[in-house]
Amino acid sequence: MPSIRAMEPATRELFEQRVSMLAAGGKSMRDTALILSGEFPGYGISFGTIQYIASARDLHFSGSTQSLERDIELFEQPYEFEELRITDAPDGYKIIIVNDVQFPFHDPKTLTAVENFWDEFKPDLEVFNGDMIDFYSISVFDKNPTRAFNLQNELDVGRGWLERRVTRHPEARRILDDGNHEDRLRRWLRKKGPEVASLRALKLNALLGLDEMGIEHLPYRSVIDFLGYRIEHGYKTSTSTAYPVNVSRYMAVGTGSSGLCGHSHRFSIYAWTDARGSHSYIENGCLSRFDLEYAPFPNWQQAFTYGIVHNNKVHLVPVLIYRDGFRAEGEFYRR
Ligand SMILES: [Fe+2]
Ligand SMILES: [Fe+2]
Repeated sequence: MPSIRAMEPATRELFEQRVSMLAAGGKSMRDTALILSGEFPGYGISFGTIQYIASARDLHFSGSTQSLERDIELFEQPYEFEELRITDAPDGYKIIIVNDVQFPFHDPKTLTAVENFWDEFKPDLEVFNGDMIDFYSISVFDKNPTRAFNLQNELDVGRGWLERRVTRHPEARRILDDGNHEDRLRRWLRKKGPEVASLRALKLNALLGLDEMGIEHLPYRSVIDFLGYRIEHGYKTSTSTAYPVNVSRYMAVGTGSSGLCGHSHRFSIYAWTDARGSHSYIENGCLSRFDLEYAPFPNWQQAFTYGIVHNNKVHLVPVLIYRDGFRAEGEFYRR
């Protein structure tokens, strides 16, 4: 039986493209082999063929050892996390929640539009809900050698932006809860420099100057319970990028509470009603660019959420950002 070596160059190219697409679409090696043996009959395409292409082109498949290692790295439990409860807020108290800005991979156009709204809305509470800084420089993934920035640059971009937020509206309360990307710093120090890991100067607090800016800081996997609405970075992503299942539903079932998470870089709302009334869970999108090299062809959405308190309940408004901008509080904000 002929192998893929017998393919015409054009067919071979098409075949390899399909392998990449199926890998990016979240298929396992086994499923990819099954699909492609149907699409390219007569070449004896097997699990081994896909394994060969995967290692030659450094592709990651769902369910493979490589992706299992990545998942373990991403979802590794921290030592400690907190639940910060805010049980009372007056009528008209305003909140904004943003996550997954991934500095220095933020989308400047989008961020400017969101900040224009932010400056007019003047929230009383600003939640920076994790993955604000990418920490690309210390990730476990292979680094692109042509990237010109270093770890200090990443921190400078993030810190500069936070400082601007503080200057624009100094009286707001601010909370940063770490995402898995901020947690890379703790994990990196634990693995690569345990002898110096205890140094206060190497903690995110010190590196970003959070204390000086008056920003409260919660470790990865912490939850902010704002009037019963559980706000957290999140840890769940949809297994399929091509046909994703809403993470909001997963988190709603998992927490049994109204809430909001980031992390998936996707946008959705799940609502349900039980004996206690109606509830909702928001999957809060991201504010990063869509061309991050560790996530080829992502099915992501840009979004953020704001809210206003009434009768000690927060009415949250999730805002999906379109290519030309978004509407919030009756105004259009051009991107
Ligand atoms: Fe993220
Ligand atoms: Fe994340």
